[in-house]
Amino acid sequence: MTNLTNPRWLALQVILQVIDGGRSLDEIFNSDWYQSQVLDKRDLALGRELAFGFCRWYFALSALLTGRLQKPLRARDRDIEVILILGLYQLLVMNTESHAAVNETVKLALAQKKAWAKGLVNALLRGVVRDKIKLDSSMALHAYPDWVLTRIRRDWGEQAEQVLIHGNCRPPMTLRVDTRQAEIGAVINQLSAAGIDASRHVRIASAIELSSPCDVKQIPGFSRGVVSVQDAAAQIAAPLLGCSAQARVLDACAAPGGKTAHLLQHCDNIKLDALDHSESRLEKLRQNLERINKSARVLIGDAASPGSWFDGNYYDCILADVPCTASGVMRRHPDIKLLRRESDIMPLLAHQRKIIDALWRLLKPGGKMLYCTCSVFKDENENQISKFLERHADSIEIKLNDVDWGEARPHGRQILTGSDNMDGFFYGLLTKSGGT
Ligand SMILES: C[S@@+](CC[C@H](N)C(=O)[O-])C[C@H]1O[C@@H](n2cnc3c(N)ncnc32)[C@H](O)[C@@H]1O
Repeated sequence: MTNLTNPRWLALQVILQVIDGGRSLDEIFNSDWYQSQVLDKRDLALGRELAFGFCRWYFALSALLTGRLQKPLRARDRDIEVILILGLYQLLVMNTESHAAVNETVKLALAQKKAWAKGLVNALLRGVVRDKIKLDSSMALHAYPDWVLTRIRRDWGEQAEQVLIHGNCRPPMTLRVDTRQAEIGAVINQLSAAGIDASRHVRIASAIELSSPCDVKQIPGFSRGVVSVQDAAAQIAAPLLGCSAQARVLDACAAPGGKTAHLLQHCDNIKLDALDHSESRLEKLRQNLERINKSARVLIGDAASPGSWFDGNYYDCILADVPCTASGVMRRHPDIKLLRRESDIMPLLAHQRKIIDALWRLLKPGGKMLYCTCSVFKDENENQISKFLERHADSIEIKLNDVDWGEARPHGRQILTGSDNMDGFFYGLLTKSGGT
């Protein structure tokens, strides 16, 4: 068996890069190594499915595995643990025919030159089939690291179960239509003509949900920017900030530019600065702007230290889509479950605080700053805003009562993962006193 022919082998290599190398699935799938794999489309899709599914279900399947092993695997047999979990995933989630799942999993152990594991893989997987083990929906409640479970239960009490179950589902592929260029119904008809089944999002006027994901190249209007790929929750930002014509706007954590593109398409003639500290991510933003045929001043720099990039012209509107734990998008990026650590939270909270404190100084009196995260942790959201309001006597919260998405919190609004099939998101809108 070689990597040239086998999607399971490819998935194994991808997962080992996540686990041992701390690399994200996106990073790996965009790497030269992955792009050079010679597999047909179907096998590549299966490889991705296995890698995503492994990450999504790792914590639940690894607990199941531990319970069925007579003795724990040695640290140096991490690859065998991954192989066994891949086998369990095929049996229990993909419902792969058991003979094929067992045989293919044995082959993987042999490809890793661990012939001793053949008996173990056989016995363990056949045992799961024999005992008719099924994966019920309550298993989703265990498909997270303990620290995430604890935090979500602490923050959301009775709602926690729903957040966890939705957070373990596959996300929809959602499109944003530039409603200045095309009418939603017409886009749905064009999609249908192209063989793509789609419907209006139940809550967000610019959003269309696809019944199943597809390649963007197949989407009519994508290459011209009539349609972009963006979760419905993320489509709330630009209309909510509501910049008037000629406004000076800063998109402070802008890359890869999903919300930058929406701001430019939604607001008339704004003067937009798009800032990010990552050059490689800014490159993606530039490509996005080119695709939608709009322009912005692209700045590289640290949002928390404006000295190096701020030109002294204060802003009317600032979007602060700060870096966060991404706990609201674990369904979309299940590798987060394996990559994030509880110890990341405190530094992230401090980083968010530094960024918004620095940005606040760049806002004109009467100007607006929209704070958002793709997190469902209160510390990054309503608690962050609460502390901000205490620190800044000139900050006033604009209550978001006249909207029908998410739920009102003591500060801001929270979309819990899966609510209206959206990603988990938080929005808090602030204005600076002293405007005319
Ligand atoms: C949540 S993502 C932004 C997503 C983006 N707004 C969009 O809609 O496509 C956060 C971004 O913040 C950037 N970032 C993190 N720390 C930063 C800092 N100190 N200064 C500027 N950008 C930063 C990251 O590189 C990342 O691109």
